[in-house]
Amino acid sequence: MYSIEVNNLTKKFGKFISVNNISFKVKEGEIFGFLGANGAGKSTTIRMLCGILAPTSGDAIVGGYSVLKHPDEVKLNIGYMSQRFSLYNDLTVEENINFFAGVYGLKGKLLDDRKKWVLKIANLNNKENLLTGSLPGGIKQRLALGTAVIHKPKIVFLDEPTSGVDPISRRGFWELINDLSESGTTVFVTTHYLEEAEFCNNIILIDAGKLIAEGNPKDLKTNYLLNDIIEVECDNAVKAMELLEKENFVEETSIFGNNLHLIVNNFYKDKTQIKLLLSDKNNIRVNRVDKIVPTLEDVFIHLLDNKTND
Ligand SMILES: Nc1ncnc2c1ncn2[C@@H]1O[C@H](COP(=O)(O)OP(=O)(O)OP(=O)(O)O)[C@@H](O)[C@H]1O
Ligand SMILES: [Mg+2]
Repeated sequence: MYSIEVNNLTKKFGKFISVNNISFKVKEGEIFGFLGANGAGKSTTIRMLCGILAPTSGDAIVGGYSVLKHPDEVKLNIGYMSQRFSLYNDLTVEENINFFAGVYGLKGKLLDDRKKWVLKIANLNNKENLLTGSLPGGIKQRLALGTAVIHKPKIVFLDEPTSGVDPISRRGFWELINDLSESGTTVFVTTHYLEEAEFCNNIILIDAGKLIAEGNPKDLKTNYLLNDIIEVECDNAVKAMELLEKENFVEETSIFGNNLHLIVNNFYKDKTQIKLLLSDKNNIRVNRVDKIVPTLEDVFIHLLDNKTND
């Protein structure tokens, strides 16, 4: 069963194609990661899937409704946390909750129950009178998620929900996402943090509006990167990278923290080739050379590099 089915969805702004003919499916209850660089078209896609922005062509069925034909039904049946949290800073916590509950027509006992739930997951019990603008980023983010799903939608769209919050809060937030998914809610989430993408059941990657990769994190690493990845820990990584780039056994290089990652080809036999070049010929101390399992970052850098070289 799919909760979202996207068919040839396209959005043009004048002549500029922001989202270019993308198709994919999202299973019910899964955590679906939507990745891409700044300006790739993620928010534009989400706005179309939420029924807020009309597609130029193509369509998507979201929770059983066409975004093209029935955008209002789509809006009522989903939750949406926009890129810059949708809360009003000049309202209190409770006023924000009431505002979103009002949009979805929650009243009486249901409203009371859901309000308690939102306060609980946001760690704001007995703090409903605080001004929302005064809350720490991590708490605000939890409150924004709570209000986005106050009406218990089957599908929730989260547009970069964790940008700008500290690592501990981010981890706590992902626990909330997992809880939602376990209770059957489909979570569609964009992020720039690739370690978060690892928590997703399935992922798509878009670049300049086009879909360039899809699959679960494990398949992405095996299907899109067929060459071996070698990690090199050495002094002067920048100089080492310049030297290695010229070797016939190296296809691509990138810097990961203090280390170098090399995508190598069949001319690569073993680590002596690297040590010979760096330490023996160029006096660069090499601490370690290991073949590693690629990270999603390796895969995406590889895919995006090859795109720009086309
Ligand atoms: N209303 C608009 N009018 C014209 N161009 C737009 C409009 N909305 C978005 N765009 C353009 O469409 C492209 C995709 O924008 P979008 O906001 O969807 O990217 P994004 O992937 O969400 O990026 P980010 O990671 O920075 O949030 C950008 O080049 C943007 O400038
Ligand atoms: Mg965006």
